[in-house]
Order: sequence, then C-alpha cells, then structure tokens
Amino acid sequence: MIVLLLAALLFQFSSTLTYDFTSELQFISLQEIPPTAVVNNDGISFESKLPEEKSADLPPDNGGNYGDLIYRFRENKDALLLREVIITEELSSYEQTIRWMLLSWHLLSPSLIILWLCSTHSLCPEFCSCKQTEKGQRKTACPKGGMHHIPTSEMDASMEILEISAPEDLPNSLSISPVFQQFKKLEELVIRRSNVLQIGTHPFWGVPTLRFLDLSLNNITSVMDHNFRGLVNLVELNLDGNRIGRIQVGAFKHLTELRVLTLRSNLLSELVPRIFLKLVKLHVLKLSGNELEEIDPEVFKDVPDLRVLELRGCGLKRINTQLYHLLPYITHLDLGNNQIQFLSRDEFLDLHRLHVLKLDGNMLPVVLEKTFTHNQQLKFLCLARNRLAKITDTAFYNLTSLIELDISYNKLSGIEAVALTHIADSLQRLVISGNNFTLALLKIILQTLYRVWHLEMAHIKLKALPERFIPDRIKKLNVSWNELSSISVQAFPRQLIELDISNNELKGLNDSVIQKLETLKFVNLSGNPWTCTLCHITPILLHVNKTNLFKQSVCASPTSSSGKKLSELSVKEVKACGGSSDSDKKIPSDKLTLLVGLLCIVVLGVLSVIFVVVSCVKMHAGNAERRHKRAVERAENNLDNATAIFSKGELSFKFPLDLTERRMSVSTIDEIKKDPQQEMSNGSVTGI
Ligand SMILES: *[C@@H]1O[C@H](CO)[C@@H](O)[C@H](O)[C@H]1NC(C)=O
Ligand SMILES: *[C@@H]1O[C@H](CO)[C@@H](O)[C@H](O)[C@H]1NC(C)=O
Ligand SMILES: *[C@@H]1O[C@H](CO)[C@@H](O)[C@H](O)[C@H]1NC(C)=O
Ligand SMILES: *[C@@H]1O[C@H](CO)[C@@H](O)[C@H](O)[C@H]1NC(C)=O
Ligand SMILES: *[C@@H]1O[C@H](CO)[C@@H](O)[C@H](O)[C@H]1NC(C)=O
Ligand SMILES: *[C@@H]1O[C@H](CO)[C@@H](O)[C@H](O)[C@H]1NC(C)=O
Ligand SMILES: *[C@@H]1O[C@H](CO)[C@@H](O)[C@H](O)[C@H]1NC(C)=O
Repeated sequence: MIVLLLAALLFQFSSTLTYDFTSELQFISLQEIPPTAVVNNDGISFESKLPEEKSADLPPDNGGNYGDLIYRFRENKDALLLREVIITEELSSYEQTIRWMLLSWHLLSPSLIILWLCSTHSLCPEFCSCKQTEKGQRKTACPKGGMHHIPTSEMDASMEILEISAPEDLPNSLSISPVFQQFKKLEELVIRRSNVLQIGTHPFWGVPTLRFLDLSLNNITSVMDHNFRGLVNLVELNLDGNRIGRIQVGAFKHLTELRVLTLRSNLLSELVPRIFLKLVKLHVLKLSGNELEEIDPEVFKDVPDLRVLELRGCGLKRINTQLYHLLPYITHLDLGNNQIQFLSRDEFLDLHRLHVLKLDGNMLPVVLEKTFTHNQQLKFLCLARNRLAKITDTAFYNLTSLIELDISYNKLSGIEAVALTHIADSLQRLVISGNNFTLALLKIILQTLYRVWHLEMAHIKLKALPERFIPDRIKKLNVSWNELSSISVQAFPRQLIELDISNNELKGLNDSVIQKLETLKFVNLSGNPWTCTLCHITPILLHVNKTNLFKQSVCASPTSSSGKKLSELSVKEVKACGGSSDSDKKIPSDKLTLLVGLLCIVVLGVLSVIFVVVSCVKMHAGNAERRHKRAVERAENNLDNATAIFSKGELSFKFPLDLTERRMSVSTIDEIKKDPQQEMSNGSVTGI
C-alpha cells in the first residue's frame, strides 16, 4: 500500500513538473520552416528538423508536410495546440530540474505523504468524471448536458481543469457567478454549450491561476470590461459561437498576459476603437464569421505583436493597407471567403514575415505583376475559388520560399511557364483542380515545377492519363472527378504513395494495376461505375477479399447486380460479358447504337416494301375480279361505250358505297376504253 502511494506520489509530482515546463505558451514562429508537425499522444509538436532527419514514416524530403500543418491550423485546434509546444532546448534544463527535484523529494517525502493523504478526499459530482490527465493534472469533466447549476460544492477543490460541456441535443442552462475562488489551482475552465447569457460582474475574481478560459457556443450577447477582472494570467480566451454584438471599449484590458483571443462566429458588425486596449502580448486573433464588412485599422494599434489574424467570411470588400502597416509581425493572414475584388501591387508591402496567406473564395480576377514581391518568406499561398482568368508573368516574383500553391477552381485556361519559374525551386505542392488546362499545358507545368511531389488535379475533365505523363517524383496524386475510363499501370508514377481516383469512369481494373494500387498507402476508388461482368471485374474479383481497396465499391451495372458491394458478389452471380442484354444498357457504345439503328432501318425498309407489294397485289386482284365482272356485264348488255355505263342505275347505286372503288372503276373503264378489244378477249388484267 505504502509502495503504491509512493509510486503514485512520484508520478503525480513528476508529471506536475512536466506541466510546469510545457504549459508555458510558446508561439510557434514558423520561421524555422520546413516544420514537421509531429503527432503524438499529447497533441502536436512542431519540430524543425532537417528533411533527412524526419521520421521514417513520412516520405523523404517532405517539408511539404506543411500542407498538413496548415490543414490542422484550420481545424480550430491550433489555439489549444499552441500551448503544448515543447522547446527542445529547455528539455535539458528540465531534466536537470527533475534530478534536483528527485533529490529533494527523498528528503521531503514523509511530510509530503502526510500532506497528500490529507488532500485526497477528492470529490466528484454525479454525472461528471474526475481523473488525472496524462500530464498529471486533476480534471473534472461534465459532458453529459442538461445541467442547471455548477455543483461546485461537490467538486475537488484542488482540481486544475474543469470542463463543462453538453451534447448538441441536450444543452446546459447555466449562469456564471463568482463561485470559482475555492479552486486554488484552477488553470483551465471550459463552459461550453451551456446557454450562458452573460458573463456577469467579475465572476473570475480571485482565480488568478486561470490560464485558459473557453466560453464558446453559449448565448453571450455582450462583453464588458468588468467581465474578466482578475484574470491576470489568462493566456487564452475563447468566445467563439456566441451572439456577441457589442464589445465595450477596453473590454479585455485586464487580460495583460493574453496571447490568444478568438471571437469567431459572433454578431460583431464593427470593432470599436480601443477594443483591444492593453493586449500588447496578443499573438493570435480570430474574428472569422462576423459581418464586419469594414475594419478601421486604428483598432490594431493596441495589438502590435500580432502574428496570426483570421478574418475569414467577414464580408470584407477591401482592406485598408494601413492595417498591415500596424501589424508588421503577421505570419498568418486569412482573408478567405470575403468579397475582395482587387489587390493592389503593394498590398502586402509591409508584411515581410508573412508565411501563410489565404485569399480563397474572393472575387479576384487577376494577380497583378509582383504582388507578392515583398513577401519573400511566404510558404503557403491559397488563391482558390476566385475568378482568376490570368496570372501575370511576374505575379509570383520573389516568392522563393513558396512550398504550397493553390489556384484551384478559377477560370484559368492558361498559365505561362515563365510565371511558374519564379517558384519552381521551392514549390512542393500544387493544386490546380477545377481549371481548364489541356494535357499539353499540364505537361509544361509539371516540367517547370520540377520539385512538386504533391499534385491535385481534380475536375479538369481528364479523359486519359497517358503513360509516363505524371513524373515519377509525384507521391500524392489527386485525379478525382475526371473522366478516366481506363488506366494502365505505366501511368502511375514510381514513387506514388497516395492516390485519389474517385468519381471517374472506371468500369474495371486490370491485374497489374490492382497490384500496384495494393502497394500504396492510400487509395480512393469510390464513385466509379464498376461493371460487374466477367470481362470488366474478373481481376478485381480475384483480389476483392484479399485487399481493402474495394471495401466500399459497388457495382453500377448490369442492372441485376447494381448497388451490390463488390466484396459481397459471389462468383456465380457475375455474368459473362454482354451475356445479358442489359449489361451494356447504361453505357451503350456508339458503334453498337449505330449498328442497331442500321438494322432497324433495314428491317423497317424490308417490311414496308413487303407491305406495299402485298397491298398492290391484293388491290389488283380485286380490280381484276371487278373488271372481269363488268366485262361480263358489258358483254351481257352489249354496250359499246362508257357513257352508257354511267347512265346505268346499277353503277350509280354502287358509287357511294366505296369511294376508292369508284376511282378504280373509272380508271378501269378508261383502260377498257383504251383497249377494249384486248380486255375483252383476255378477260383479265395483267398489269397497269
Ligand atoms: C440561445 O438562445 C436561443 C434563443 O434565445 C436558443 O434557441 C438557443 O438554443 C440558445 N443556444 C444555446 C446554445 O443554448
Ligand atoms: C525580394 O524579397 C527580399 C526580401 O523581402 C527583398 O529584400 C527584395 O528587395 C525583394 N526583391 C524585389 C525585386 O522586390
Ligand atoms: C477550355 O480551353 C479550350 C482551349 O484551351 C477552349 O477551346 C475551351 O473553350 C475552354 N473551355 C472552357 C469551358 O472555357
Ligand atoms: C481530391 O480533390 C477533390 C476535389 O477537389 C477533393 O474533394 C478531395 O478531398 C481530394 N482528395 C484528397 C484525398 O485530398
Ligand atoms: C493491363 O494493361 C496493360 C496496359 O494497358 C497491358 O500491357 C497489360 O497486359 C494488362 N494486363 C492484364 C493482366 O490484362
Ligand atoms: C473517397 O472519396 C469520396 C468522394 O470523393 C469521399 O466521400 C470519401 O470519403 C473518400 N474516402 C476516403 C477514405 O477518403
Ligand atoms: C468474398 O467474401 C464474401 C464473404 O466473405 C463472399 O460472399 C464472396 O463470395 C467472396 N468473393 C469472392 C470473389 O470470393
């Protein structure tokens, strides 16, 4: 028992120590790019090793993990992650301190045990869970929802983290009052999705230990300067997803240590002057998803050290460049999904340290000459979903550090190789999806950008991927949403490890291709119209139960098996090629249609000829009979001319009965008139 206690104590002690060292917020300056985001149990740490030293899991020379890094930045977790950076240099001093602490621990242990035993009456409210985090912090989490008050009296007074949240369908209904003073070690407080309507008058007074406060997804409508009094050590404040429309002047003036402030998805329509008063240490400011429309640059006077600024989806039409002048340390700037129509040539003149620039989802028609010439450190540039029809030859001039370029979903149908030469030495990831590029142009692009290994070209109406077209250095390839109906193994670059070929026109794959795909780390084959007949999917059937490639694939035709998963298809079910008439119903080949059409025409022609002949023969047979009759009559009445016939009562009686017969009768009579002798003698008609 004692041993266990000792062990627990040691564990807790040393892990608390870890926290002390790592919890210090380190803003990651991305200057030592290429950084590698190393994912581990604690989150992500950023290391800036040289490419050769990277973990074996990652493809070599991939400073372009940068893309993933950016992606994670988008994922809203960045603020949290920022706090977990471990600076390697400090590790050695950290180790020393550990040693020192261990030594003193030997001396102090008895008294500590007594202390520990006294403080172990740890409480935990019903519906909450209380445990130690991996870093040894005491955490109380109440995620079940439906709470109406915070059961502070039942909580462990020595907890360091309190997290109150709720599922979407069962929000809490809480108000915040000054109940947190009793938690002398509280460092993180989360009250999320709890319908908090206002923050109240200094509810956090007496909790100077608080470093992290998250009040997101509540119903807070305004922020007052008394809300945050006493939070002298607060490092991060999250107010995302509220209904904040009003923020008082100097509302954050007590938060002098604040590094991260996020106010995304609120109802802010303006930023009042001095709104950020005293936030001199602020590094990260996120204002995305507010209808700001215009920004007065003056408000940024108070945050001179800002590194990350997010203004995505704020209805901005233009940015007063004075703003950039006041924020020379900006490394990340996100202006995506606004309505910016124009970038002047010296728009980003003052942003010498810019690493990441997102301008996607705006209305830019052109990138002017030398727009980014002062942003030599730019690593990531996103111009997707604009109206770009032209990129000038010197648009990317001086972008010698650019690693990632996204110009997808624009109106480009050409780009000069000259324009790309400026970034050719550094560019590693290129996204050109959704433009109108021909194969010939693609070839030039790929030749010029000789270091690109991550290529995305979806939605470019690609009908075929010629062999050896994609250079062997490409490791990640996205050719989804094209019109590829077949693919040969020679079309795959040698170093390929990830392939997205979903939503093409593939009906089957041949054996060598499947074998190649099996060696890749990631393949997406979904959305292809697999034709489940022997001639199309036999090679797939042979592999289907041995690989994960076709787990989600379903047959598109023939109709008898459409919708069926390839992996559930039994060999017996699979029809021979073209065996059943419906096998090619969905996608009839042009030649077949032509053939069927021709056949139909021929058959129709023959039928109509037969019909005509038969009806003629029939008609004449009838006529002949009648003629014969009349001839007999004539002979009987001994008549010499036709007029006499018309005067006959018998004939005038017959006419109304059948009009055709009348006409025929007349013609017959004419004929008879013409050659009465012959007719009479033969007694039958041989032809007209
Ligand atoms: C915020 O208030 C509105 C109505 O006032 C309510 O419908 C909504 O559920 C509340 N949001 C939360 C997260 O409680
Ligand atoms: C290219 O960038 C560097 C560093 O920002 C700058 O010193 C240089 O003047 C730029 N070149 C041109 C031609 O603008
Ligand atoms: C795509 O480019 C080709 C020539 O490169 C042009 O003929 C065609 O009209 C363009 N299509 C569209 C939709 O712009
Ligand atoms: C490939 O491109 C498409 C279209 O741009 C995109 O939706 C998809 O996520 C991309 N695939 C991968 C694996 O990134
Ligand atoms: C697969 O296709 C390639 C090229 O299209 C061809 O050379 C090869 O013989 C085919 N393999 C099989 C097993 O059909
Ligand atoms: C494959 O692509 C489809 C559509 O393009 C997408 O819905 C699906 O999530 C992707 N699968 C994987 C494993 O990425
Ligand atoms: C693959 O396995 C499934 C179930 O295990 C089976 O129904 C199916 O017939 C198998 N497919 C082939 C081609 O052997």
